[in-house]
Parts: sequence; structure tokens; C-alpha cells
Amino acid sequence: MATFSYHHLLIFTLVAVTSAAPSFRPKALVLPVSKDPSKLQYTINLTQRTPPVSVPLTLHLGGSYLWVDCDRNYVSSTYRPAQCNSAQCSLADSKSCGTCNSPPRPGCNNDTCGLTPDNPITNTATGGELASDVVQLPSTDGSNPGRVVSVPNFLFTCGPTFLLQGLAKGVQGIAGLGRTKISLPSQFSSTFSFARKFAICLSASTNLNGVVFFGDGPYRLLHSPQSIDVSSSLMYTPLIINPVSTAAASFAGEPSSEYFIGVTAIKIGEKEVPLNKYKALLTIDNKGNGGTKISTVNPYTVMHTSIYKAVTNFFVNELKNVSRVKAVAPFQVCYDMKSLPSTRVGAGVPAIDLVLQNEKVYWRMFGANSMVAVNGDVICLGFLDGGENVRTAIVIGGYQMEDNLLQFDLARSRLGFSSSLLFSQTTCANFNFTSSA
Ligand SMILES: *[C@@H]1O[C@H](CO)[C@@H](O)[C@H](O)[C@H]1NC(C)=O
Ligand SMILES: *[C@@H]1O[C@H](CO)[C@@H](O)[C@H](O)[C@H]1NC(C)=O
Ligand SMILES: *[C@@H]1O[C@H](CO)[C@@H](O)[C@H](O)[C@H]1NC(C)=O
Ligand SMILES: *[C@@H]1O[C@H](CO)[C@@H](O)[C@H](O)[C@H]1NC(C)=O
Repeated sequence: MATFSYHHLLIFTLVAVTSAAPSFRPKALVLPVSKDPSKLQYTINLTQRTPPVSVPLTLHLGGSYLWVDCDRNYVSSTYRPAQCNSAQCSLADSKSCGTCNSPPRPGCNNDTCGLTPDNPITNTATGGELASDVVQLPSTDGSNPGRVVSVPNFLFTCGPTFLLQGLAKGVQGIAGLGRTKISLPSQFSSTFSFARKFAICLSASTNLNGVVFFGDGPYRLLHSPQSIDVSSSLMYTPLIINPVSTAAASFAGEPSSEYFIGVTAIKIGEKEVPLNKYKALLTIDNKGNGGTKISTVNPYTVMHTSIYKAVTNFFVNELKNVSRVKAVAPFQVCYDMKSLPSTRVGAGVPAIDLVLQNEKVYWRMFGANSMVAVNGDVICLGFLDGGENVRTAIVIGGYQMEDNLLQFDLARSRLGFSSSLLFSQTTCANFNFTSSA
């Protein structure tokens, strides 16, 4: 019997090694990203399981990993729960080993380690089993999608149906791109041994897809007469680790899987907004409060009340010659569209700069990213007041990232950002999704 299991194990290992060393090794992968018009979430479709199905997911930049609803319609011959104390459980940093008192099915197995999948929209979390299954997605040379590649044992967590509350219609889980060993970027980079980098380029349109790249550039966007590599002209700022988790559920001592950057000042029309004693909010304290993070699950940038007030007062003062109109919720500062000039980079308003590690490095937001057209006539400053008790002082939201390329370099712990691509006469909807395979 012992000999039999030894051989069995040996064969299994050989098969695993063969399938994990694909003859074609991609340098990068690519997926379209769409914007849900009602929830303003950014979604991708990931092909998973055997037989393969396309699973719609909400993209969560700071999410820890992939989780999907396993309670409804999870059918796959390649689903494998992660056995307690396995290498998979330790890679996932699981701290629990569970049993399930119902008949076995995906999401319900005995002696399986678990994680706590969370929903950042409703701020809820629950327990779920860690498992692996095959996923497939197109490789890219940076210009087009190419040959589709498989990741045979892609780790993810099962969540229950109720955890989907608040997510875009039809979505079956969350694709986490955060700072963990099992986030999508980490697993793709380790499977194919490519650069620990990924990039997102969110489209401002709900009809035209943006793009997410896993791996290094080039990231080519169509542009007349030739495409341009938008990875070649980025500014860089260090990514900062928040030592305290910002997820809905966590264990003591766990750092946040979200991406923080070091905003040191805010300028409007190249003049510094006085933040006075509230400037301290820009630094992450030892409880993990404060600082600035980037979040695709917030449709608009949210600021601590004190910062919000300072910014909006300054902005209104800079535009004091333009008469304001009645506010349209959730915004407070609105203007008649016709009273603002229009430019290549949106409504002509003073640029808002998030100043980073020094005066020369700033993320500049033009009208296209600062002003939101709420109807045909009214355009509002697209920042929200988060209240006095926000965990993070500034949460840069999806709207402020649209038509900007953001590259996350995990090995060097830095963010590369392009500012508005509209200046370069392209947009995030300009990746050529016609396959070259
Ligand atoms: C995801 O799949 C649905 C259904 O096929 C499709 O309507 C949608 O456009 C796809 N989204 C993306 C981002 O590819
Ligand atoms: C787990 O083990 C218990 C006790 O042996 C058993 O009653 C239960 O059906 C098992 N559950 C699964 C999902 O295998
Ligand atoms: C506002 O209008 C006044 C009077 O027309 C003008 O002198 C001033 O320069 C304007 N200020 C700005 C910021 O446009
Ligand atoms: C998009 O890519 C396809 C496949 O390489 C190519 O034939 C087509 O010309 C490209 N489209 C544009 C607008 O460049």
C-alpha cells in the first residue's frame, strides 16, 4: 500500500511539473475592463473551470485575491480544495482549517484551509475555503491579445452568494490585484516567471473597454498614425505599505493589501492648498489610519472632511468668477457647463495636483478627471466628503484614474503614472483587442 501511494505521488508530481512548464511562455497577459453604468464598478471576465466558463468579476485593485460565489452553479472537474497545512495554505497565509457538515461540493469540503473573502462595497467578510482551479487568459506582446494560456492550479477562495451584495449586476465575485502572494498579478507572475508588474487603464466610457495588463510593457494604445507605448513615459512614486490591514476582516499584525502612495501636499492651479494641522492626516499612523490609497471600488475620490473642505474652498475661490449652480448629490460644488471652457483634457478648470515625494513629482488631474458631468447642463467637482471618521485620509477613486495608465511595480514597490492620456491624444479604450493569435 505504501509503495502504491509512493508511485501514485510520483506520477502525480511528474504530471504537475509537465503542465506547469508550458512550451510557450508569455511575457504579459491582457484582459478588457468594462465600467458598469449603474454601480460604477470596473469589471473583467475571467475564464475559469473545466469545462471553461466566463466569470464576471468586480476588479478590486487592493483586494487580496480572487474569490467567487461557489454556492451557485460552480461545476468543474478541476476544482481542488486546498488541504490543511499544504504549501497552498501557507502561500495564502491561511490561519484556519475547516470542516463542512453538508455533502461535499465546491466551497464545502473537510480538512480544507480557509480565508476571509470580503466585499469592500458593503464592508462585509465571511469565511470561505481556499481552492484551486484552472484559469485561462490571453497573452499579449503589448499590441494585441495573442495566444491563450492556462494557469492549471490558480488559487482562489469560495464565497457565499450573499457576499455579492452591492456588486454590479451579474458579477460572481471579486478579482483582487492587491499586495499578497496570491493576488492575480502575483500568481500570474510566478506561474510564467514574468516581471512582477501590472497596469490598469480604466476607460471613461461605459461602452468602450479599458484594459488591464499583467507583466511589463510595452503597453501599446492606438494613436494616429501609429500606436504609442504608454509605459515609456511614466512618472514614479514609491508605494507605501500600510502596516495595518484595511480589509473588512483581518488578523492582528496583517498589513494592508491595498496600494498607498505618499501625497505630501495638494495644489490647485499650482498654488498649495493650506491644510494646516490636518496635514498630519496625510501620514499613516501606527494604527494604520490616514494616508492616501488608490481604490477602484470607490467611483470618486473620497477625502477626510478637513481636507475636503480645504480643497473645495480653495477650488471655489480659484473659480470665483464662475457662478455656481445648485449642487447635485453626491457632489457639492457644481457649475453650469456652459460657463466653463472645454479643452482637450476636459472642462477648463485649474488643475489639481497631488504632490508626492517632492515638488517635481505630482499626479496632475485635469477637468476630465476632476469634473463630472451630472446631466447635460451641470458639471460638478468629483470629490466626496468622507466625514471625520474615515480610515484613510484620501481614497483616490476610479473616476480620477480614467484615461490614466497606472503601473504597479511590485518588485520595486513603486507606482508609475501617466497623468491624462488625453494629452497624448489617446485613451484607455484604445488597446487593439483584435487577436493576433
Ligand atoms: C463580459 O462578458 C459579458 C457577457 O458575454 C459581456 O457582455 C461583457 O462585455 C464582457 N466584459 C468584458 C470586460 O469583456
Ligand atoms: C466531514 O466529516 C464529517 C464527519 O466525518 C462528515 O459528517 C461530513 O459529511 C464531512 N463533510 C464533507 C463535506 O465531506
Ligand atoms: C475675475 O474677474 C475680475 C473682474 O473681471 C478680473 O479682474 C479677475 O482677474 C478675474 N479673476 C480670475 C481668477 O479669473
Ligand atoms: C488591430 O490589430 C489587428 C491584428 O493585428 C490589425 O490587423 C489591425 O490593423 C489593428 N487595428 C488598427 C486600427 O491598427
